[in-house]
Amino acid sequence: MPDKLSAPKGVPEYLPPESAAWQAVREALQRPATNAGYGYIELPIFEDTALYVRGVGESTDVVSKEMYTFADRGGRSLTLRPEGTAGVMRSVIEHGLDRGQLPVKLWYAGQFFRAERPQKGRYRQLQQFGIEAIGSDDPVLDAEVITIADDGYRSLGLTGFRTELTSLGCGECRPAYRERLTDFLTGLDLDEATRERARLNPLRVLDDKRPEVRDQLADAPLMVHHLCAECAEHYAAVKAALDANGTAYVENPWLVRGLDYYTRTTFEFVHDGLGAQSGMGGGGRYDGLMSELGGQELSGIGFGLGLDRTHLACQAEGLQVGPTRTLDVYVVPLGSAAPRAAALATELRRADLRTDLSYGGRGVKGAMKAADRSGAAYAVVLGERDLEAGVAQVKSLETGEQESVALDEVRAHLRSRLAAPPTATIEGNIT
Ligand code: HAM
Repeated sequence: MPDKLSAPKGVPEYLPPESAAWQAVREALQRPATNAGYGYIELPIFEDTALYVRGVGESTDVVSKEMYTFADRGGRSLTLRPEGTAGVMRSVIEHGLDRGQLPVKLWYAGQFFRAERPQKGRYRQLQQFGIEAIGSDDPVLDAEVITIADDGYRSLGLTGFRTELTSLGCGECRPAYRERLTDFLTGLDLDEATRERARLNPLRVLDDKRPEVRDQLADAPLMVHHLCAECAEHYAAVKAALDANGTAYVENPWLVRGLDYYTRTTFEFVHDGLGAQSGMGGGGRYDGLMSELGGQELSGIGFGLGLDRTHLACQAEGLQVGPTRTLDVYVVPLGSAAPRAAALATELRRADLRTDLSYGGRGVKGAMKAADRSGAAYAVVLGERDLEAGVAQVKSLETGEQESVALDEVRAHLRSRLAAPPTATIEGNIT
């Protein structure tokens, strides 16, 4: 026997019935974005490697250690997308979307790839829902983006998370701050690897979780205390707009993101029920990214929400997400009535009733067991004698009640019985 194959390490799969909850998570996060005028962009799964090196930053772990890079048959270096922002910017520039009405507001969803060490909530193929708004530095837009994520999470019923917020300054104030931080770090007792990290990007040292490093960092200078007047004003206006929206946040001046393009407003959604991988989503402004990629000097802001982790967070909070039922009707064909029963199933499906049936001439006992297991609301049994009488037996699988219904009325009968929407909206399903 040939060896069994398995999915590559670190690649999660979502199978029925759980996959329905997973899809509902994605749809719930998407709704506030489409309600705010974001249009869908379908991005390539792989891009020129140079896009990520230039866009995300060579010194980041994502680019230096985690990319899936390969040469195609023409010898070009391509990379499976590790994130979505750089690809959106490339596409906006390439197709001139930034020449029309601004801001350009887009959303995307799908798989991203990072060669990280797999553990619960940390995968090599991860899924994100993301939005990007390009071409306006209005602080109201920053608050809009954060509020969209917050509303999406809340529509799932999530409560055990917080929105951490800070400002990372701009090209005016960050270089001076960076120097100040570098001076501070030079005076500390750090190992060689940490010193090297400080040389590449001193801000990243602030993210060190080891107690011996944390203790020394207690008095480190923080960006929010060294913002230029414009950045300080922008940050204050973002907070005021969030307050006006009623969107809760906590300021975390220690917040450091793993990608290099961030400027000014930066945020992360942290869930305490997720263990070590507590970052459920994150994002911020990236005011220099577009020009870095050869486009105009336009500012932008967006987020990426981890779908895998949001799904885990819903499980951690015990939330019932998604449809409670995925099938309405189960047809049980008996004996020579089978072809007519199969045609009836087709008729019901065309009438938008979710219908499955028993195959292979199964006996009534086995087929009724399958009907019960299917999760359908009704079974429709059609045997030879029923067919002769022009009827079918319609049985409620919830109450066990059964009635004889004329064959040409089965569809209308079931539709009226199932009139209350079989799958309530996501909000309606939250318990
Ligand atoms: P990021 O923080 O690298 O940001 O990723 C966003 C989210 O994706 C994380 O908060 C996490 O939930 C999820 N995620 C990341 N890596 C993994 C992994 N290995 N396994 C499971 N989930 C993961 C970005 O990607 C930016 N492009 C977000 C953004 C958009 N910023 C501005 N616009």
